[in-house]
Amino acid sequence: MINKLDTAQATRRGFLGATALTAAQYKRVLGANDRIGIGFIGFGLIGKQHVTDFKKFDDVDIVGLSDVYKPRVEEGLRYIGNPTTKGYGDFRRMYENKDIQGVVVATPDHWHALLTIMACGAGKDVYVEKPMTVFIDEGKWMIQAARKYNRIVVVGTQRRHGQGVAAAKKVIESGQLGKIHSIRIASFRNIYPGFGKTPVEDPPSEIDYDMWLGPAPKKPYQRHRALYHFRWFWDYSGGQMTNLGAHTIDQVLWCMNVKGPTMVMSTGGRFALEDDGETPDTQDAIWQFPGGFTVNYAIREANAMRGDTATRGQVYLGTRGNLVLAGGYEVIPENKIDPVNDIPRFSGHPIGGPVYTDVKPTPWIQASKGGVESDARYGTGGEDTMAMNERDWLSCMRTRKRPLCEVEDGHKVAVACNLANMSLRLGRAIKWDPEKEQVIGDKEAAAMCSKPYRAPWDGVLKSLVKV
Ligand SMILES: NC(=O)c1ccc[n+]([C@@H]2O[C@H](COP(=O)([O-])OP(=O)(O)OC[C@H]3O[C@@H](n4cnc5c(N)ncnc54)[C@H](O)[C@@H]3O)[C@@H](O)[C@H]2O)c1
Repeated sequence: MINKLDTAQATRRGFLGATALTAAQYKRVLGANDRIGIGFIGFGLIGKQHVTDFKKFDDVDIVGLSDVYKPRVEEGLRYIGNPTTKGYGDFRRMYENKDIQGVVVATPDHWHALLTIMACGAGKDVYVEKPMTVFIDEGKWMIQAARKYNRIVVVGTQRRHGQGVAAAKKVIESGQLGKIHSIRIASFRNIYPGFGKTPVEDPPSEIDYDMWLGPAPKKPYQRHRALYHFRWFWDYSGGQMTNLGAHTIDQVLWCMNVKGPTMVMSTGGRFALEDDGETPDTQDAIWQFPGGFTVNYAIREANAMRGDTATRGQVYLGTRGNLVLAGGYEVIPENKIDPVNDIPRFSGHPIGGPVYTDVKPTPWIQASKGGVESDARYGTGGEDTMAMNERDWLSCMRTRKRPLCEVEDGHKVAVACNLANMSLRLGRAIKWDPEKEQVIGDKEAAAMCSKPYRAPWDGVLKSLVKV
């Protein structure tokens, strides 16, 4: 094992003793010409992508890289190719480095909140990957930390930066679609039969598995619990609902200007895949939002419904038209009709029944298209929204302005997605007060909004924010 967790050092004295900052240091503002020192936590699929991007930014120094899997620290340092970059097995040692102004958190989801809060406490700005949290209260603690320590915290829901999303938001806000009463979204793919099963075994000597688990419950090692496949285990993630939902639900909340749902119900299960994952491969969720509209989200892991475009993108359904958002957007008009003419005709109504008219259907609005396909790296064309999000973070680190994908935005999305998973796991609908951010009338569901962190991380958390 490398860098075994030192319990004593993880306490407030140990952590903050080394990194506590004065008020003046918290207020230190980067000048327009200052170079920004960055540290990376997690050199996995997306951590490597972030490193690739930041290597291209000429106002940035990659000062540190931390991973609990030693071969990845070594590979990461080789990949960065800068002899001054330091490698760390224990991120806490990296947080002590005063040459680092910002950290990129690209670990599994169960570490996102605590790593962000600890970075804020150490006076560092944060780019934290989505999904921001595993349970609802983590988001509240992260916002608290960002405000308390005056930090810029960006969440990796980069797709908001796409021109298509911004243009679609304008169309939606203009009211031209009429009353938008429902939105249908879907994430379909077919990975049947799944990733297989992995046995319980001793963790490889190169991985600090206890540090990998961090605040999550102690469970025996299985290869699938760790690198990449952690996504399918409830202790570390919320499955595709939070993994892909973080992107799609974020766009819905942003376009519709809503904070959170009033009600959610979800059902599904791991019905088809033959592997050791726990999260659903088939999930349907319906949220109801203030102002009167529903969002219907279908997730399939074992059927891509090939050929059916309705399984891709988001469809905003209004009384006058539809907006399909999938990178770019398309407005498809609804027809204005005389409602009476929509009644089935058969052999006609007997006397006293509705009377058909000769009013012809006409489109309520004009068809239109806008925006461009986003996310070149996902193979869908044009824009690189992740690089835009990274640049927004760097720019806000200098200006101290609010970034486009801010911690509060990440929290809203995480609330909606986590509520859906809570409903699925409880097997019943949940009512939610989006202003007070509380479950209504369901003690069991309310208790699911929080989970205890494993020692010593619970103590570290409580030393930095009010829990
Ligand atoms: N924004 C996006 O579009 C996007 C795309 C893919 C993944 N992600 C997110 O990025 C995160 C990481 O996903 P991934 O696919 O790269 O996972 P991964 O398992 O490939 O990489 C995670 C890395 O973090 C390391 N790690 C775990 N705990 C650590 C700790 N305490 N300190 C240092 N390193 C630690 C692991 O050893 C691993 O190398 C996930 O939350 C995922 O949802 C975002």
